[in-house]
This record gives sequence, structure tokens and C-alpha cells, in this order.
Amino acid sequence: MEEIKTLPLSKNIHPDVNILKYIYNKSLEDPESFWRKVAEDLFWYEKNGPVFEPIDSPPYCYWFPYWKTNLSYNTLDRHIESWRKNKVAYYWEGENYEKKVLTYYDLYKEVNRFAYVLKNLGVKKGDRITIYMPVIPELPISMLACTRIGAIHSVVFSGFASYALAERINDCQSKIVITVDGTFRRGKLINTKKIVDEALNYTKSVEKVLVIKRADIEVEMMEDRDYWYDELKPSSYPYVEPERIEGIHPSFILYTSGTTGKPKGITHGTGGYMVWAYFTQKAVFDINDKDIFWCTADIGWITGHTYAVYGPLLAGATLFIYEGAPDYPRPDRWWEMIEAYGITILYTSPTAIRMHMKYGEEWIKCHDISSLRLLGSVGEPINPEVWNWYYKYVGQERCPIVDTWWQTETGGIMISPQPGLALVPLKAGSATLPLPGVDADVFTEDGKSAKPNEKGYLVIKRPWPGCLIGIWNNHERLKSQYYSKFPNVYYTGDFAIKDKDGYFWLLGRADEVLKVAGHRIGTAELEAAFLSHPAVAEAAVIGKSDPIKMQVPVAFVVLRPGHIPSPQLRIELINHIKETIGPIATPQSIYFVNKLPKTRSGKIMRRILLAVIEERDTGDVTTLEDETSVEEAKRAYEELKRMIEEIP
Ligand code: WTA
Repeated sequence: MEEIKTLPLSKNIHPDVNILKYIYNKSLEDPESFWRKVAEDLFWYEKNGPVFEPIDSPPYCYWFPYWKTNLSYNTLDRHIESWRKNKVAYYWEGENYEKKVLTYYDLYKEVNRFAYVLKNLGVKKGDRITIYMPVIPELPISMLACTRIGAIHSVVFSGFASYALAERINDCQSKIVITVDGTFRRGKLINTKKIVDEALNYTKSVEKVLVIKRADIEVEMMEDRDYWYDELKPSSYPYVEPERIEGIHPSFILYTSGTTGKPKGITHGTGGYMVWAYFTQKAVFDINDKDIFWCTADIGWITGHTYAVYGPLLAGATLFIYEGAPDYPRPDRWWEMIEAYGITILYTSPTAIRMHMKYGEEWIKCHDISSLRLLGSVGEPINPEVWNWYYKYVGQERCPIVDTWWQTETGGIMISPQPGLALVPLKAGSATLPLPGVDADVFTEDGKSAKPNEKGYLVIKRPWPGCLIGIWNNHERLKSQYYSKFPNVYYTGDFAIKDKDGYFWLLGRADEVLKVAGHRIGTAELEAAFLSHPAVAEAAVIGKSDPIKMQVPVAFVVLRPGHIPSPQLRIELINHIKETIGPIATPQSIYFVNKLPKTRSGKIMRRILLAVIEERDTGDVTTLEDETSVEEAKRAYEELKRMIEEIP
């Protein structure tokens, strides 16, 4: 494994592994004092009782259960009482080069206005609010308005379609939906409000819809339900007193995919999440007041929640956010913006890097991106080839790369280089070492620590502040999902190895969850969407390797009697997925078969289907209920392959 030593970032960074070890050991020896000290950087109305309290399944516990704080106060009011009042909080750019700049004071005023409107609509502490919009300043503004008054936001990524949106509204029984009239993607207009209207045909809980003008298009507005935000917004700047929120009060729900057809409402608390977002922002990104920080993730995913909203704002940093496609109108759009805004820290995904690699470094070379000092990667394993390209052409062999491993459930980064504490030697493709408080290990199937370089399951053995507080509406699923595979540890669902230096190498998911262009998509959720089409009797979805997106979904489908396989039906099913789940889940291929390979107990053997499309040996098939199903899958695969080859 290749080792690359990078230069220290700035004077205050000590390139010493021992310093990191010292801090790490302290955090594990006395977590109560360690996290109390970190929490003291932030504002609390009350600091009663312990920092954490164990609950039923260890290491699950409550963080700051009797303390009181407010996320909106800590991201805004705390700064406007300081010299940061007129410091830029957000630079925003739209796809068509529209620009907006919001200082901390501007953001504070807009959040207060928004909170005022929500209160006037009758929103109370604990109410759920679904937010469905692209990355425009009103997205963080509405999130912070919710946390200001103790409402629980559930942001749904704007790439999801109406069915997926409805399912997420229904699960948490949202009272209000906040959205836009429309938006632009790659120059194309998207009628966002129309998607919301369709979703609302399947929901009962929503009382009001707040619509923000973004595309300035005609939309249907239902009387007494739909309101233009502009018409409710006060012309003055009222002050809305932040609610005093208990540490374990849910601050938000974010739906993510698991191994069943129903997405999980990952629920984060207030105190622990806040401390974790703040601490990891500083430890990993070494953020300071001169930085312009750009996390390219959409705010509709956890990476955007923690590192395009809460973490940087808690740290008082300046952020850049961008609404559009990375290669629109040309492949150098990103490099152009890095140059224009003097961005210093870029945090992105391996998929995006692979896309830029494909376009070629020539697009970078026509811009001066020397303002960059630190690069980050998240969402998928980054292989050494991609790491090296990122290091060489984007980082210009000068910027360290923080490969950050974490999950929606963990609230913030768990394993990563930590230049804000001490920079250790980097290894291309390794996320390096766990953060303070993160007692990570690799377990073999029998629950024992794996030997160095032995592949196993990544687990976390002790509580950390950013841990999810629950799955909305489903406490049992929380236990069975994360605390059952091995006793007394949190199970991540990822494969990993730990090398002789204690460095972690992440090897992808151990379950049936796909990573498509960094987005987490459950095969079971896709299968459920296929089954909602009247022609489909059975479906099996698997992830095919893809040189850019890492994985793409492909499906084997058994039709109901009376339906005949045809290219038209294939297109219809693809459109059905796009319209129900969203374009991000578009299957690359659909294979029509008469039967699926199953075990005698009826479990679909996806491993065999994967071997078929990867043209590998299918291995032992004797456990199958019907061995001819393998031939059937091969026939369908070859047939479609031939058809595609014949297209001129
Ligand atoms: C994967 C995204 C390798 C992993 C923050 C995890 C990674 C899942 C990395 C969570 C990384 C995330 N290296 N794999 N640096 N970061 N993953 O919930 O499989 O969208 O379990 O959270 O992404 O995806 P999620």
C-alpha cells in the first residue's frame, strides 16, 4: 500500500501521530469530561446532569438528556453577538449564474422571518415539516427556522419523485410541506410543485403548503392549503425567541435506505448531534475564519445537512453552495467557481471526481484553483487511482485529502484524517484513523476482532455523540438493525479491514444497499416500486459495477400472466421507477425472466444474478429450488446484450 506524506496545513497543526493518539485515548478514558469540554464551546440554556446516559441496548445512549440548547441559536445568534455578525455565511450560485450573498446577520433575519411565518401557520414544537426543494438559500433558512421553534424537519432530496415523497410525508405525518414552484437542472425546467401536488394525493396529514418562488412559473395553488411564502413573509424583521430544546429532542428526520422496502426515518437528537457536527467540522476540516468551505453534496442528504448547514455554521465558517449540475454549461463549471470564490476547502464524492477525471485535467488547467488547501471525499470507497488523480490535479500535490467514512446514522464523520487536531501520514484509499470518541473495530462473523488485513464487518464499540436517537416510528427496527448482529456494539453494515498501523480501509456495504453515484438506494425499495406496477409479479434488483457511479441498479423481472416482454414495456417500467422513486434510481437494464433463482425457503439469490451479469461463474447452485432459473437468467442477459449490440 502506497504511503504519501503531505505537508502540514498551517502553523498550528502538529504533524504528529502521537498527539492524535493522546487526544484519542483521552476521549475514550474519560468521555464525560472530554465531551463536556467540547460542549462548552457552544451555548446551552441549562447544563444539568450527565453528558450521556446509557439506555437499553449498549452502546446506545442518550446524550445531554437534561441539558437545554437550540441549534438555530448556536448557528446564528451566537455569531451575531460577536464580530462575525457581518461575516459572510453563504455564497450561493444558481445554475444560471444567479448569485446571492448572505451574512450571518442576513441569515439570522431571514430565519427569524421564516420562523415567524411557521408559527403563524400554527407550527409547534415537535411538529414534523417536510422540506422539498433544490439547493437555494431558503433550504437552510427553512431548516434553521424549524430548529429555532423546535419543529422537526424532514428534508426530502429534490431528486425523489412523488411516490417516494408521499411515503416520506406519510411515515412522519408532516403537517406542512415547504417547496418551490419549479427549478432548473441542466437547463431544463422541473415542475417541483406539481410533484408535490401528486404526492399530496396520497397523503392526509398535510394541512398547508408553503411555496417559494424560484422559477417564476405558473403553478396551481389550492385554496386554504397552498400559500406563496412571499405573501406571508412580514416586511419587517420580527424576532422569534428560540425554544429551549432538550438534548434528546429530535431535531430532524432524514429518510435513508435499508434492507426492507420501506425507507428508515433516521432521527437525530439536538445536543449530541450539535456537538458532533461542530467537533467533526473542526477536527476534520481544520476550519478557520479565512476559509471558504464548499461541500458539494445536496442538502437533501446527510452530508449536506451536517457539512453544508449545521457543522460549518456552528463553527462560524463561510460556506459556498451551488444549485446546479457539476458540468453545466461546461465541464469546468466547478473549477470556474472555485477560482471565482477563492474556495479553500472542497468536500465531494468519488463519483464526482471520477466524472471530472473522465472530462480530463485540461478543464482544470484553464483555471487558477490555487486557493484550495484541503480536499475531502465521502460517500463511497475512493480507490487509489482516483485518490491519486484528485491529489495530483485538484490538490496540485499540495493539499491533503481527508477521506471521510460515515453514515446518515452516525450524524457526522467517524473515520478520517484529522488535520484540525494533527495530520497523520496519508495512504491513498484509506480513511485512516477513527475520530476521538469513536471506538471502531473490524469483527469476523463470530464477533471477534479480525486480525490485521483480515476482512470483516466494521463495528463501533462505544457511544459517540452523533449517533442516531431512533428510527421514526420504529424503535424495534433500531435494535434489530444496529444492535443485534453482534452483542453490545453498533453494527455499521460495511465491510472493512484494519491494517497493521491501525488504518481502516472501507470495502463497501455488507448488505443489499446500493451506492449509486454516492446516493444510498435500497434494492428492496426499488423492488417494491417495481411491484407497484400492474405488469410485475416479481422483481430482483442488484447493483452492477459502473466506472463512474460505482454502482447502477439492474433488475430481473417476472411478469404477471397476460403481459408480454417487449422493449416498450421495458421503457414503461424504467419510466415507472423514474416517476415513483426518482431519476437517481433509474435502472440501467431490465431483464425479463420466467423465474428467479431462489433458495428452497424462497430467498432470492442475488449473488447468482450478479455473477450472470458480470459474466462470472455462478458457483454452487445446488441449494436452489430450481436450478434451471440460472439458465433462464443467462438467457435473458444474453438476449438483451445481443439486442443492444445490434443497435446501429
Ligand atoms: C459508504 C453518507 C467508503 C458506506 C455520509 C456507508 C463510504 C454509506 C465512505 C453511508 C468512505 C460513506 N469510504 N465508504 N469514505 N463514506 N461510505 O448514509 O458504505 O448516504 O455505510 O452517508 O456510504 O451512506 P449515507
